[in-house]
Amino acid sequence: MSEQKKILVIGCNGQIGTVLTRALSKKYGSNNVIGSDISKPKESVDFIFEVCSVLDANQLLSIIKQYNITDVYLLAAYLSAKGEDNISKAWSLNIDGLLNILNFAKDKIIKKIFWPSSIAVFGPTTPKKNVNQNAITEPTTIYGVSKLAGEALCNYYHQKFGVDVRSLRYPGLIGWQSMPGGGTTDYAVDIFHEAIKKREYTCFLSPNRILPMMYMADAIKATIAIMDASSEKIKIRTSYNISALHFNPEDLAKKIKQYFPDFIIKYEPDKRDLLASSWPNSIDDSCATKDWGWNPNYDLSKMVDDIILNLKKKYKQEII
Ligand code: SER
Repeated sequence: MSEQKKILVIGCNGQIGTVLTRALSKKYGSNNVIGSDISKPKESVDFIFEVCSVLDANQLLSIIKQYNITDVYLLAAYLSAKGEDNISKAWSLNIDGLLNILNFAKDKIIKKIFWPSSIAVFGPTTPKKNVNQNAITEPTTIYGVSKLAGEALCNYYHQKFGVDVRSLRYPGLIGWQSMPGGGTTDYAVDIFHEAIKKREYTCFLSPNRILPMMYMADAIKATIAIMDASSEKIKIRTSYNISALHFNPEDLAKKIKQYFPDFIIKYEPDKRDLLASSWPNSIDDSCATKDWGWNPNYDLSKMVDDIILNLKKKYKQEII
């Protein structure tokens, strides 16, 4: 009989963690999933919670031993825009945190790691369209630099020590359950909340700034699928390209107007537009499809429909 999986999600209060930890708890049972973050969750959760920073290796080790953790999902990170204002902190959180977890796996204290990379590993020298798995990676943000270094570390720990680490290059992620913090693609989440509350949004990217994006439900599906795949299927140990949608703010605003005809979008591009201009428009994810069967479920219309339906319910409850 295979040993019971015990999962630790580091950064469970974040944009991805909020949704992924619940999904894992549903799949594996609430006693088998431990969420950790630097502060307590604001809402009640259906998993065990521990306050802990990924930079505190001693406390992490004691949590891992206390719960016999087998799998770690390391989601704590400084994103692209925030990272530019805190270069040392971004590097430390994104890399020292990863090293702590890789070393636990090297020492056979844990078995499997999920660690997200990003489209931010690409830069202005990368082709813009349908970027393939091995395209040039010359990032121009500290976030991208740390993700690229992290990918190399994951591959190194796999090759040298047999560490079972798996990774995805997430595009901009859009969901209704949680807010992103300090990224360049955050507009695509903010716009929905503002459209519902005020029928107006001022966008910090240019109207024609196309970026690769994905609905949160698909990101969760990809994360669980890559972790469930048998080890021999995972041929890439840096990080897999994954893709679902690509659109610009104007495309998204047009879709939202179908639900709220009085919705107005204004544009005040700021320094985040420059970061976004260095990233690709679209991504070729054929390796993920071939190796472990990746396929997204949501196109732009289906995603917008689902988000608006859920946010309308959420705001009605909160506003009244
Ligand atoms: N969503 C991230 C950011 O905008 C990109 O991975 O920083």
